[in-house]
Order: sequence, then structure tokens, then C-alpha cells
Amino acid sequence: MLGRLNHVAIAVPDLAATAAIYRGTLGATVTAPQALPEHGVTVVFVELPNTKVELLEPLGEGSPIAAFLEKNPSGGMHHICYEVDDILAARDRLKAGGARVLGDGNPKIGAHGKPVLFLHPKDFAGTLVELEQV
Ligand code: CO
Repeated sequence: MLGRLNHVAIAVPDLAATAAIYRGTLGATVTAPQALPEHGVTVVFVELPNTKVELLEPLGEGSPIAAFLEKNPSGGMHHICYEVDDILAARDRLKAGGARVLGDGNPKIGAHGKPVLFLHPKDFAGTLVELEQV
């Protein structure tokens, strides 16, 4: 069911400062910031030869990463995103296996303009999992 690793996401308190570290200190290519109000975050992607790193900063009130940053004030690894061919088939298979899908269980459009879902970290070794249909 799982395809490639699409990205690893790191939540950060200051997106501009972290993007500057990746661009400058680490010499990486970093995309322009993209506001995703429906997800309560602003994101940039660090483009690597084999995958991407997503840097997330809270956007607006009630951001889903606000509590995470309260617990991890300097930032931290937030989720891992795997590609799937058919997100509805993946969701139905996971639900049948007892996994919990976050939100209303329906895919939302993610940062790449493609459908995404998030799975409960307690069902996946303490790691929040994002699925993206590619
Ligand atoms: Co993501």
C-alpha cells in the first residue's frame, strides 16, 4: 500500500529563521512560503535529491501544531508523509484494520494540491502519519 517517502515534516516556531538556516548553513534549496489556512499552517519545502523536508509554522488561531510547539518550543519532528496510489482505498483498508483517521475521515487538499489524510500517532509507533495520493 505504501509508496515513496514524500516528506518528513518539522514544526518550527519561526519559519523564516529556519528556512534561512536550511538555505544558508545547510546550502539547500527552499521553496517560497505557502499559507494553508485550511490546515492552520504556513509551509516551505526543503528540496533534497531523494525526498523533501516540510517546515511548518502555525497559521491563525487554533493551529493543529500550536500544542506541539508548546511542548517542543524549539521545534521538532512532527509527521512523516507516505505516498499512496488510492487514498480512499488506503483509508478504508486502514479503518478496517482498526486504525484511526484524524478529522472527519475525508481527505483534504494538501500543500501539493493533492488529497491528504492524517493517521493517529498512537496507532503508528508514536508518529503522526500523513498519506498523500500521488
Ligand atoms: Co506534510
